[in-house]
Amino acid sequence: MKIAILPGDGIGPEVTEQARRVLDALDLPKLTIWEGDVGGIAYKRHGHPLPQETLEMARASDAVLFGAVGDPECDELPREHRPEQAILGLRSELGLFANLRPAAGYPGLEGMSSLRPEIARGIDLLVVRELNGDVYFGDKGERGSDGGREGWDAMSYNEAEVRRIAHTGFQAAQKRRGRLTSVDKANVLETSRIWRETVIEVAKEYPEVELDHMYVDNAAMQMVRSPGQFDVILTGNLFGDILSDQASACVGSIGLLASASMGERQTKFGTFGLYEPIHGSAPDIAGQGKANPVAAILSLAMLLRHSLGCETEAGRIERAVAKVVASEVRGADLGGTASTSEIGDAVLRQLTALS
Ligand code: IPM
Ligand code: MG
Repeated sequence: MKIAILPGDGIGPEVTEQARRVLDALDLPKLTIWEGDVGGIAYKRHGHPLPQETLEMARASDAVLFGAVGDPECDELPREHRPEQAILGLRSELGLFANLRPAAGYPGLEGMSSLRPEIARGIDLLVVRELNGDVYFGDKGERGSDGGREGWDAMSYNEAEVRRIAHTGFQAAQKRRGRLTSVDKANVLETSRIWRETVIEVAKEYPEVELDHMYVDNAAMQMVRSPGQFDVILTGNLFGDILSDQASACVGSIGLLASASMGERQTKFGTFGLYEPIHGSAPDIAGQGKANPVAAILSLAMLLRHSLGCETEAGRIERAVAKVVASEVRGADLGGTASTSEIGDAVLRQLTALS
């Protein structure tokens, strides 16, 4: 088994360090771990945010644990050299089209949500975000216009792209509460019309899943009005980017939410995937020990489950984290004073207690 760890920028190295400690504590047999540069740090060291050797390392692994990319010092660089291109490049080069972003409330954390506790209590949803298409990867550019320089980005989805992510969404719903909400903007966008028609087609193969459709504006409103109504939210790249951040604020802190990005490649142990906290590089708090490593540790749990077939270990990590989150050991994001490594220590203690 081989795992590539790509810590990246900002708080990425701090949070992945804690995930690495948890991984080491599991003492998995025959595990190789290697680390590579990615993002702004990679640009500074190698002249590219996604160096060829990092990409090759990811390809040669069974799974990738990713920290975060983004560095204000790189803000002025042309788009192809910006740190964000590293994660976009990995997603497209590795064919990681399915992004799973679970958001569930933790008992005891209702008070941290931006929502009233009685509304926050019911959150247990999964955003299934398409990750290889949409306006993210369409042609784009700048041109002249009567109104001065004009930026443009092409948005598109074809049926094959929608079909494969729809299958992921329906299969996830089968394993959960059997409800799927497809989010689009079919009242305005042609992209969304094809999206919706294709999702309806695919739904015929999953008669036991209850499907409904929501326009993205309504979905954003419903998510803060009554998030408990959602089970699986199936949506495109751009809407999924926005709604998954919103879901994290509903739960309480973006520092708690993990994600998996998966494609079709099967490894000896499961499905190849890249796992990352959904928070970014948070340069304002980088290097201060203030970052919450929980999202990175939970990303490791997802990695163990989906890519390495280690369900028992994944479950243990999740139970250990739940105990820590419910305890007094809280980081600044949750109104506490615990440092990044103290939260890591607490997770390790709980893990030992559970074994
Ligand atoms: C995310 C991030 C990325 C995205 C950025 C860093 C390119 O916001 O993973 O949600 O927009 O997909
Ligand atoms: Mg985002």
